[in-house]
Amino acid sequence: MTDALPRLWILSDLHLETVPHPDAFAPTPPDFDILVCAGDVWRADPPRGFRVLRRLAGEKPVVCVLGNHEHWNSVLNGRLPEARKAAQACGVTLLQGDMVMLLGCRFVGTTLWTDYALAGDTVEPDEETGEDIRIATGTSSGKLTIGATIAQHQVELARLAELVDQHTGPEPLVVVTHHAPHPDCVRPEDYGTFFAGNGASDLSALLDTGRIDLWVHGHVHQSVNMPVPSGTVIRCNPAGTRFGNLDFDDTLVMTPRWVPDRRPMRERLARTLALAAAAGPYAPTTWEEDKRFMDELSGEED
Ligand SMILES: [Fe+2]
Ligand SMILES: [Fe+2]
Repeated sequence: MTDALPRLWILSDLHLETVPHPDAFAPTPPDFDILVCAGDVWRADPPRGFRVLRRLAGEKPVVCVLGNHEHWNSVLNGRLPEARKAAQACGVTLLQGDMVMLLGCRFVGTTLWTDYALAGDTVEPDEETGEDIRIATGTSSGKLTIGATIAQHQVELARLAELVDQHTGPEPLVVVTHHAPHPDCVRPEDYGTFFAGNGASDLSALLDTGRIDLWVHGHVHQSVNMPVPSGTVIRCNPAGTRFGNLDFDDTLVMTPRWVPDRRPMRERLARTLALAAAAGPYAPTTWEEDKRFMDELSGEED
């Protein structure tokens, strides 16, 4: 069963616009089937980002979404037609409210944005987000506002929910977004600030459907590996600005569905049982004897 699932190479937030020698990012590709990238590869330049992803993946499939930074220096979504063409030219599957089946796995994705609920009352709808993104109407400056971002999030979330609802097959479902889907994807100490509101929304209602096997996101610049009760695993593997996330793993590979180890218990515990047999019967009478026994069992030395 495990062999039938594609191995996903998961990356995001390479932010190659911030490093002096972007071509130096050339990790030896891991053993993977599909490269999945959750956005923010190259600020304001989606085609350049797609070329990077193609270079990394070689001949293999690439699935990605645009991050907020890919929208910079443009009108919100104004660059999307150009980005779709560029992605197609690179053989990269760009998801923006789309669904695709690849190697027996279903992918849906979108940039997503956020609802700013985690910011509490620290932000106002008319306030600018600080992103260098323009909107067609609304403010005198024409810059993206909190209110316009929330509206865009609601549109993209509705489309995402529709796509998740359409998923009825046995194949795994992977959601790819740039923004995060759960409050635990940001630091609790940031709750009630712009940073939390700008990073994640509480999409538990969608997660609780139990239809999603894996949710890959980016944007928060800290690594996330979190199962939620519905069975969905939320994963984020961002490099961060100037590769600042020290937990970034440039060869992180995972399958889209957790597969239980169905080997008999005795087989799964074979190594432990062998060590226990070699250590002899457990009959310590002092703390020192107990420690020696446990050290022998684990193979550790003082
Ligand atoms: Fe980012
Ligand atoms: Fe971002």
